[in-house]
Amino acid sequence: MIQRGKGPWPSGNDELTVKQWFIQRISETIEEAEHIPLAKICLDHVSGQTRGERIVSDYRFPESELDQLAVIAEEILVGRPIQYVLGKTWFCDLEMYIAEGALIPRPETEELVHKICSELNDEFRGEVLDVGTGSGCIALALKNANPMSDVIGIDVSDDALKIAKQNGQNLGLGVEFSKLDILSETPNSSFDVVVSNPPYILESERESMKSRVKDFEPNIALFVNCDPLLFYKRIVDLCCDGVLKSGGLLALECNRAFASDVAILIDKSPCFNKAEIITDLQGNERHVIARSKVN
Ligand SMILES: C[S@@+](CC[C@H](N)C(=O)[O-])C[C@H]1O[C@@H](n2cnc3c(N)ncnc32)[C@H](O)[C@@H]1O
Repeated sequence: MIQRGKGPWPSGNDELTVKQWFIQRISETIEEAEHIPLAKICLDHVSGQTRGERIVSDYRFPESELDQLAVIAEEILVGRPIQYVLGKTWFCDLEMYIAEGALIPRPETEELVHKICSELNDEFRGEVLDVGTGSGCIALALKNANPMSDVIGIDVSDDALKIAKQNGQNLGLGVEFSKLDILSETPNSSFDVVVSNPPYILESERESMKSRVKDFEPNIALFVNCDPLLFYKRIVDLCCDGVLKSGGLLALECNRAFASDVAILIDKSPCFNKAEIITDLQGNERHVIARSKVN
């Protein structure tokens, strides 16, 4: 059944009137700084055109598009993240399908992908493992930037894997996605790069989180039980047991409160060279990378 929007409707259907009407509808729960960017994304989405294109053609929004905008405004009002409402987001210049079964890809994770790419040579042909692939964003962006590589994304969540596979198909990028619980199973191959953005938020942080994150994004993607290093310990152990090839690259996204603990964990392990902590564009210690020792 098609969901129908509810009035009040705008007094006209030109760009300015529709934009002001849309902003008025979302203003009750959305902070002011987000009004114009959200209106822009939504008007572009329903019209299939950019603002510039609409201005040049003196575009008029048809009734069906006003209807869609009214439905979108209702969803935004209840706090549903815009990426889930529209079913899409962008990651490293790739348009990705996104739905509630997977974490919404974050800008800081794009920074991790850029860092990994800067560590690889131009004609990189190696094997890459993305642990906790979610929407498949890291795996797909790495494959896109390194077309000769073999990339595998693993996740324990069937819902996430469905979304990742859909993205692989939509983007025509040959990434393999498969189900594996990294805490109890072992990948049966060795890789040149192991990357992971595992769940890293503590239950104790739940209260201070925005509702649109904790109430809409999958808890299995966000929260780790009482040990904040649980996934990192397991991944480092697996790397030392042969999942990472000698001289291979480990790249991890972390809770900003624990990046230095992750680096210490790696430095204590016998098979890695010194870990590097990377600060993201927000000024938070967010990523840790390290090379395994050459045998
Ligand atoms: C923080 S999300 C990262 C998603 C995606 N890589 C990204 O950067 O947007 C963590 C992912 O780890 C997955 N995950 C949680 N527990 C797992 C486990 N035991 N084994 C494998 N994946 C797991 C979740 O389903 C989720 O997709």
